[in-house]
Amino acid sequence: LAIREINLAGGIHGFPIQAVAYDPASVPENYYALAKKLVEEDRVNMIFGCYMSSARKAVLPIVENFNGLLWYSTLYEGYEFSNNVVYSGAAPNQNISLLSEYLLNKFGENYYFIGSNYIYPYESNRIMRQLLEASGRQVVAERYIPLSPTQDDIDYALSDILEKRPNVIFSTVVGSGTKQFYRQYWSAGMRPESMPIVSLTTSEAEVAEIGAEAACGHFTASPYFQSVESAENRHFVNKYHEMFGSSSCTNACCEAAYFQVHMYANALRVANHDDTELIRGAALGSSFNAPQGMVTLDQENHHTYLWPKIGRINQKGQFDIIHSANRAVKPDPYM
Ligand code: ACM
Repeated sequence: LAIREINLAGGIHGFPIQAVAYDPASVPENYYALAKKLVEEDRVNMIFGCYMSSARKAVLPIVENFNGLLWYSTLYEGYEFSNNVVYSGAAPNQNISLLSEYLLNKFGENYYFIGSNYIYPYESNRIMRQLLEASGRQVVAERYIPLSPTQDDIDYALSDILEKRPNVIFSTVVGSGTKQFYRQYWSAGMRPESMPIVSLTTSEAEVAEIGAEAACGHFTASPYFQSVESAENRHFVNKYHEMFGSSSCTNACCEAAYFQVHMYANALRVANHDDTELIRGAALGSSFNAPQGMVTLDQENHHTYLWPKIGRINQKGQFDIIHSANRAVKPDPYM
């Protein structure tokens, strides 16, 4: 969508942007091989993509060796800096910090952590645990399920949750397991009124898969929701629906990917050259009026000033925004 908008407006000094796209099918090894193919065979130096942190970690050595730039649009666990990455999903101080403050004010003593078995959940749990325990709260369990869990994996976890009776569940389950987890939770008769699930990754895309009935009432912390009220977001959502169908939904990752492509195009226009150093120099410090609000790329740490929010899933499968930062928050990936 962003590329189409840029090209319809005349491209970059008359030249259209052309994408070379591959599908690594969520397998980290494929990300490594395809990133290598992009830089070596396709002569690409700007890569937009990766969802899981394990995929980003697989692409890092490629962009570092070839001096490319990976534009990464997913929230992640922080504690990383590469001169060859631009990070535009939330860093922990832009989602976990706000979420933990909200939990400390609203909910009881005991927290249950459940996540998929890879780096983002381990590291996010470490940070969330520190924030909760520093205020005297208890983490009653920290449990990991496979990335593609079976029904039994989730049933065992739900039995354990019922036994430990936490006040809140912090879920770092990603991918197809998300749908299974929320649906089985609902089917087991567990309800957000007594034991909400809070997450950083359960976006509109996951809610569409889970179904609004089983997702309703749970919470997500994110800098963007489709329900953001702004002229920029209305434009984005309308154009998105035109291109991908009226039943499609936007979410934080696609919003960040959208504004990153526009920010790259602006940098390319200023640099008037496709050299990585020149584009990086023009991009860092620049701002863009994104659907979530004005975002800026931090010169020093390559992460993005973002607008943290907390949303609660409603009966339409959208998020009621119940808490919003009143300014863009400076990224602090090392907390
Ligand atoms: C993630 O793996 N960064 C969600």
